[in-house]
Amino acid sequence: MDKLLYAGSFDPMTNGHLDLITRASKLCDTLVVGVLQNRSKGAIFTVEERMEMIRHSTQDLPNVTIDHFSGLLVDYVEKNGIHAVVRGLRATMDFEYEIQMAQMNARLYNNVETIFLMTSPIYSFVSSSLVKEVYFLNGNIEGLVPDIVLDYLKQKTPSGGNR
Ligand code: PNS
Repeated sequence: MDKLLYAGSFDPMTNGHLDLITRASKLCDTLVVGVLQNRSKGAIFTVEERMEMIRHSTQDLPNVTIDHFSGLLVDYVEKNGIHAVVRGLRATMDFEYEIQMAQMNARLYNNVETIFLMTSPIYSFVSSSLVKEVYFLNGNIEGLVPDIVLDYLKQKTPSGGNR
């Protein structure tokens, strides 16, 4: 496979995302990590910050490129000559939402396939939203996100980041 897209909000990226990026990058010539520029979803990091965290965490993966997009995912893949999208499945909880998106995307653009990889069990409970919640309630999220994400989170901490 030449190009594969791994799209998401990545607000922020977790070690679950990083695991998936690492594994998906072995399946294609180029893995494009596409950061959704989502104004409505109340992201705490800017697109540039999210891209920078991903860039820093994937610097050892030469065939990974980082980009951002807004609007429909199918428009982005069509414009960029991409025919497959990869998504991670943590557990059955993800399945219904994911199959709905995969089928809608296929309906909108019949030249794209969605490929699912099972998340590694050590990260099956990890999500960006839970990581943020635990962090801002003073919980320990070390090992669940790349170190650079911890640094960025500290900058968003009103106290100036004592953790
Ligand atoms: O990491 P997320 O937030 O679960 O990723 C969801 C994402 C970005 C893949 C999805 O929201 C998306 O594709 N958004 C772009 C807008 C779009 O195409 N919507 C229709 C999806 S069927």
